[in-house]
Amino acid sequence: MDVPILTIDGPSGAGKGTVSRLIAQQLGWHYLDSGAIYRALAIAITEKQVPLDDIAAIVDTAEAMNLIFECDATRHITLDGHDITQSIGLESTGNIASKIAAIPEIRAELLHKQQCYKELPGLVADGRDMGTVVFPHAQYKVFLTASALTCAKRRYKQLKEKGIDANLSKITADIQERDQRDSEREFSPLIPAKEAICIDSSDLSIEQVVESVLGLLHA
Ligand code: C5P
Repeated sequence: MDVPILTIDGPSGAGKGTVSRLIAQQLGWHYLDSGAIYRALAIAITEKQVPLDDIAAIVDTAEAMNLIFECDATRHITLDGHDITQSIGLESTGNIASKIAAIPEIRAELLHKQQCYKELPGLVADGRDMGTVVFPHAQYKVFLTASALTCAKRRYKQLKEKGIDANLSKITADIQERDQRDSEREFSPLIPAKEAICIDSSDLSIEQVVESVLGLLHA
């Protein structure tokens, strides 16, 4: 039986994570946070002190990494037995993730790991290239955007809520740099899939975005 897939792509801070999680919960579908996979790899290579230009060693690290997302209320994430729940959300982790994400060999290595999340009764996949590369045959595709200021403010709030020290102007600069790198890279750039429905979430609440995406599924 064909597994229904909803892809939600977009820049940092557009609200993809929260919206995707809520929709997956409501539908009882699985959830793939593909950014967390790139972030976990960033942590793994930082810990092993692998230089960013040693592509073979990064690919080996990606292949060997054992990443577990707890599905309970704690939503803990462990990488090779270590709890990385806190460090995975740091902007510094996101920046390294974005640098290694531009390397085609690394994307190829992580492709299969992401595709393994496709399971019944359905999957909500959140990232940058879910609808274009990882699940090009997904039945439902959304491209979620928001103004740069909204994205930065949301990211700031998220970090503060997690108890992570944050500075709004630094976050604004960091996510602009990261989005530019993600959008301009040669392989799997951040662009809407042809069939994607674009939603600008700047003036919408999370509930309104969830409602319009669910409306798309039911249409
Ligand atoms: O979504 P998140 O901010 O956690 O992603 C961190 C970085 O991982 C992004 O800036 C992007 O460079 C990379 N990424 C990617 N493709 C994905 C998901 C994330 O290149 N599908």
